Amino acid sequence: MIADNPRAVIGVATGSTMTGVYHALISAAVERSLDASGVSCFSLDEYIGVPEGDARLFRSVLEGHLVDDLGLRPDQLITPDPRLAAESPEAASVAYERALEAAGGVDLQLLGIGRNGHVAFNEPGAQADSLTRTVPLEARTREDAAETFGGLATTPEQAITVGIGTILRAKRLRLLAFGDVKAGIIARTLQGPVSEDVPATLLRAHPDLEFHLDAEASAEL
Ligand code: GLP
Repeated sequence: MIADNPRAVIGVATGSTMTGVYHALISAAVERSLDASGVSCFSLDEYIGVPEGDARLFRSVLEGHLVDDLGLRPDQLITPDPRLAAESPEAASVAYERALEAAGGVDLQLLGIGRNGHVAFNEPGAQADSLTRTVPLEARTREDAAETFGGLATTPEQAITVGIGTILRAKRLRLLAFGDVKAGIIARTLQGPVSEDVPATLLRAHPDLEFHLDAEASAEL
């Protein structure tokens, strides 16, 4: 991707699924001496209400992989602004959509999936044409994040996320899921009805969508 298009716009995701992807990307970049200085990376989402610079912010996690390890400049990583989102949700949402548009849109969007079928933080009920906005997090999503935040009481309740419509505008979508914990939701995503109840099913409308699964995540297909 970077070798073919040195000015590629890559949509990057967080979550444990992505850690191996970043390690592989960093090794490939070193082995092939790739010049990533023209690339832009846009993240999908961010927790609201977590102090700036906190290691648990998605911005911090991505900085670790992409700035510290891959060597991108901090300005090559563009993330939604959770502080502005807390003060003025509409302004933060519009600003992020504009930044994506100004970059010419996303060439390649990496995606994980939540156990309830969320992509980014588009929880069940998210609409196919939704754009960047602030959202409340579902109980199951907060439970999954609670360990990181030292308990449910201190786990964020809100996030700013790109919408399903934002994701569908990317030229290529690559959704990754590993492990048996994802088997049920992967079966529903690929073989169940297209429905807002399982937001990932809405991505099936995209002409260039690939699923990258391991044996465990594919077990119920
Ligand atoms: C969070 C992120 C999603 C991600 C999901 C799955 O909810 N907002 O973008 O897909 O976690 O995370 P994991 O890969 O750790 O299972």
